[in-house]
Amino acid sequence: MFDPEEIRRDFPILERTVNGRRIVYFDNAASTQKPVQVLRAMEEFMKKHYANVHRGLHTLSQEASQKYEEAHEIVAKFISAYSWREVIFVSNTTEAINTIAYGWGLWNLREGDEIVVTIMDHHSNMLPWRLIANLKGARVKYIDITNDGYLQYEKIGEIITEKTRIVAFPLASNVLGTINDARKITKVAHEVGAIVVADGAQSVPHVPTNVRELEVDFLAFSGHKMLGPTGIGVLWGREDVLEEMKPFKVGGDTIKDVTLNTVVWHDLPWRFEAGTPNIVEAVGLAEAINYITRIGIENIREHEVELVAYTLKRLEELSDEVEYYGPRNPQHKTGVIAFNIKELNHHTVGASLDLFGIAVRTGMHCAHPLHYRLGLKGTVRASYYLYNTFEEIDYFIDSLEKIIMLKEKFKKEIPAEVCTGT
Ligand SMILES: Cc1ncc(COP(=O)(O)O)c(C=O)c1O
Repeated sequence: MFDPEEIRRDFPILERTVNGRRIVYFDNAASTQKPVQVLRAMEEFMKKHYANVHRGLHTLSQEASQKYEEAHEIVAKFISAYSWREVIFVSNTTEAINTIAYGWGLWNLREGDEIVVTIMDHHSNMLPWRLIANLKGARVKYIDITNDGYLQYEKIGEIITEKTRIVAFPLASNVLGTINDARKITKVAHEVGAIVVADGAQSVPHVPTNVRELEVDFLAFSGHKMLGPTGIGVLWGREDVLEEMKPFKVGGDTIKDVTLNTVVWHDLPWRFEAGTPNIVEAVGLAEAINYITRIGIENIREHEVELVAYTLKRLEELSDEVEYYGPRNPQHKTGVIAFNIKELNHHTVGASLDLFGIAVRTGMHCAHPLHYRLGLKGTVRASYYLYNTFEEIDYFIDSLEKIIMLKEKFKKEIPAEVCTGT
């Protein structure tokens, strides 16, 4: 039985108060909270097994190496990878995408080639491609969105051409919540021989992920957005594509042998994990995935769909005052709701909600082009996870009602200029 109240007991931070109220944590798209099981696993590892990996024959190093490799296996199973060797630990989604841009793009792109991304991409899946395109004389093209926040699939066939070498897109938007149809994109991309990069930062923590079914070539995601610690992320790549890719960072651990004139790169995945990795964080991520698996990623997804459906229904009561963006159908969205209150700056709304103990994100959420496309200077973003409840949503909507009622007061007391955020 999926029971958020029981789940909440594993998250000590959810007990704390902010501005005299029990915290309502709705900033999960930015980063999630951590259950005691993850904290304990990391502490246990440091207390009992800690040493550097792959470097020593001594017992501690072997135990640490085994745990570190096991973490790769746990990730591989979670996303139905063909092999754990396809799982490369990096520090976050941003590093994963830069690794592909420099490891694959830098070596394979030629002048006149095209890279296709979407207008709803996070800067982390847009700027690396723009930089690499600049370096190589390639061109970046964008897939636009419809007014209700879906990708314009009917245009994909025109935008992706024989010149396209890379197609990059988010599995789910960090602003609109839209869950994109990966196979519609991969089909067209693969027909012209392009590689496909999926940004899974907002999807892998929330939606069951099977890389074989997605048919993408690369997938990137972050541990801190799925109950794990910061400093650990995943770059998954199809083995044959990884074999073609060059290491982006090189140094210790990436090689089998080096002479003054030659280098033999290491096997996968070590070739791409330069230097001492985030060993403790990898153990933390593995425990986070075990936790999610015990609860059931399908159950988490179902719960979030219900939370979104309930929020959208309750927001109808405020429809004269609140505008929200993205798909109306909760089945097409992750638990992300970006909105604005009429005549109130998004930062003012965010800071006002904080007075009620509600944590949301405000600004452009590292998706400036998407906001410009929608004609917006920013949005307030509420984003859910497995520990959020219907009671919290009621309290959130009631608080929004109060903010709307006291609009003039909040405008005066919390002017947008005093707030920061991007
Ligand atoms: C869709 C998407 N891609 C990439 C990122 C970047 O993740 P990280 O900061 O962990 O590298 C985020 C973070 O919010 C995101 O939402």
